[in-house]
Amino acid sequence: MAKDAVRVLVTGAAGQIGYALVPMIARGVMLGPDQPVILHMLDIPPAAEALNGVKMELIDAAFPLLKGVVATTDVVEACTDVNIVVMVGGFPRKEGMERKDVMSKNVSIYKAQASALEQYAAKDCKVLVVANPANTNALVLKEFAPSIPEKNITCLTRLDHNRALGQISERLNVEVSNVKNVIIWGNHSSTQYPDVNHATVTISTGEKSVRELVADDQWLNGEFIITVQQRGAAIIKARKLSSALSAASAACDHIHDWVLGTPKGTWVSMGVYSDGSYGIPAGLIYSFPVTCANGQWSIVQDLKIDEFSRAKMDATANELIEEKSLAHSCLN
Ligand SMILES: NC(=O)c1ccc[n+]([C@@H]2O[C@H](COP(=O)([O-])OP(=O)(O)OC[C@H]3O[C@@H](n4cnc5c(N)ncnc54)[C@H](O)[C@@H]3O)[C@@H](O)[C@H]2O)c1
Repeated sequence: MAKDAVRVLVTGAAGQIGYALVPMIARGVMLGPDQPVILHMLDIPPAAEALNGVKMELIDAAFPLLKGVVATTDVVEACTDVNIVVMVGGFPRKEGMERKDVMSKNVSIYKAQASALEQYAAKDCKVLVVANPANTNALVLKEFAPSIPEKNITCLTRLDHNRALGQISERLNVEVSNVKNVIIWGNHSSTQYPDVNHATVTISTGEKSVRELVADDQWLNGEFIITVQQRGAAIIKARKLSSALSAASAACDHIHDWVLGTPKGTWVSMGVYSDGSYGIPAGLIYSFPVTCANGQWSIVQDLKIDEFSRAKMDATANELIEEKSLAHSCLN
């Protein structure tokens, strides 16, 4: 029997990530090839015409899984009955703007959209925040949508995770699908810590540790980390636009694995509400290694953390503590 359609909301859908993301969702990349979807797309009034253009293209693409499209600038209409929410819309940092000004704009957007989700979305909706500052936007959303379970509010660090896999695959000249269990700890910002200490590569004789195969700790502890941390800036420099197709693809991976599960023996990175694991203060949205089953994520426990990692994990946590207090000062 055919499955019921799932309603997926994409905010900021007229933007560049939105334009790459909605066809992926409509093709089944996010929820599977047998899962019909109804797309809800929200943007702001100045983008209404462009949003309608995206709707026209979705219709023209005749996607068999796409059972309906709601394109709107009305947040209530956008949020009504949605099951999956991907929040891409936000206020970008413009030249000359202070960090606090950008935070303040986004805090008010996320507060308002949290209230609409709280009232109108499906009670068990799963939320992924993509827009920056992603971890702190997700935290604001969590605080203003108290009836959505805290485990259902996450942010995107899968792009950073995938970037780390890509760098290792390039360095070792192995297929990216044979590399697994890198970790992104912390904030989706340049303080994030890409960690390969538990990562492995499948080769003809079995699984081998990335550290052993790369055999160059100086590269792994230096250039590799910086490349992953700075990849977003490198893409902007090259494209004059920020990453879009890779961000959209990572958003699909994040929801796909959350809903359908991670393969046995494999973990992924997700920004989730900290429960104090690994000494990370509870009450932050922090990127951890997680496995997913039955629509629930769990933080991978008991990984050995060396001194180098500890310092980097704490530094990115400290940045999130600062962002949290900045966000709270914007709310007052
Ligand atoms: N977490 C990640 O890995 C990651 C990666 C890349 C980009 N990003 C972030 O994703 C966000 C979107 O990037 P983009 O390149 O698509 O930007 P974009 O400017 O092309 O699109 C953003 C869209 O959001 C809309 N918007 C603004 N305010 C809104 C509101 N209140 N409600 C609904 N829509 C609203 C805009 O009109 C625009 O169409 C940015 O914040 C960017 O920094 C995050």
